[in-house]
Amino acid sequence: MTIERFDLQSGRLIAGKYEVLENLGAGWEGEVYLVMERATGIERVAKLFYAHADGRGRAVKFYARKLHKLRHCPILIQYLTGERIRIKGAQVNVLISEFVEGERLSQFVRRQPGRRLTQFEGIHLLHELAAGVEEIHRVGEYHGDLHDDNIIIRRKGLSFNVKLVDMYNWGRPSAANVREDVYDLVKIFYDCLGGRRGYHRLSPEIRWICSGLKRTLIMDKFRTAGHLRRYIETMEWE
Ligand SMILES: Nc1ncnc2c1ncn2[C@@H]1O[C@H](COP(=O)(O)OP(=O)(O)O)[C@@H](O)[C@H]1O
Ligand SMILES: [Mg+2]
Repeated sequence: MTIERFDLQSGRLIAGKYEVLENLGAGWEGEVYLVMERATGIERVAKLFYAHADGRGRAVKFYARKLHKLRHCPILIQYLTGERIRIKGAQVNVLISEFVEGERLSQFVRRQPGRRLTQFEGIHLLHELAAGVEEIHRVGEYHGDLHDDNIIIRRKGLSFNVKLVDMYNWGRPSAANVREDVYDLVKIFYDCLGGRRGYHRLSPEIRWICSGLKRTLIMDKFRTAGHLRRYIETMEWE
């Protein structure tokens, strides 16, 4: 039996332990809920996988194991437990993780004047993201799904606090996967600065990083997130 939507109502218990508070999102892979651990009152996030996206538990297992392997990378959410529950008679795999407070980058950018970040904010954000993803690349891994709905952002002091949710399994890590992450970081940066609209008004140094979003140009300049992070730290610009 295939389930189109789980549509869990608030108050419902998951695995007898987690009370549903609200829906945080739904995508191709499944549905994500803010929940409260009954025994402690602590907020957590439960991601429920649709059977068609889970390959008999393979997606959830991949995701959990990768989050566990990368648990020392502060930019990633912390995996807590996996649960298997029944909904409408079907087995559903659930991944419980920490709840990250903040807002989606997409939403955050839309709220800003002109619906974009200033160049200075943009470079701070890119630096924060590159430094976080650098830790993932350092252990030979990749994220695989970097975009503005998978980034939770909060302002913090001079810069931003960012966390990544979600990942995609493109198979075993490779230099190509790592470079694709770097391209995605630059694409996020470009989009946050307004994308094509106003690109010509950006300073030459910022445009040099964006490289007109040409994959090969970007990948030739920065092979890993670490290269990008180091470049930003010493660049001179108008
Ligand atoms: N740990 C978390 N803390 C806070 N919000 C989260 C968390 N995980 C997911 N979300 C929110 O739920 C949305 C969907 O989660 P995600 O894991 O990206 O699922 P999907 O596969 O549907 O893209 C995210 O865009 C984010 O806004
Ligand atoms: Mg997502």
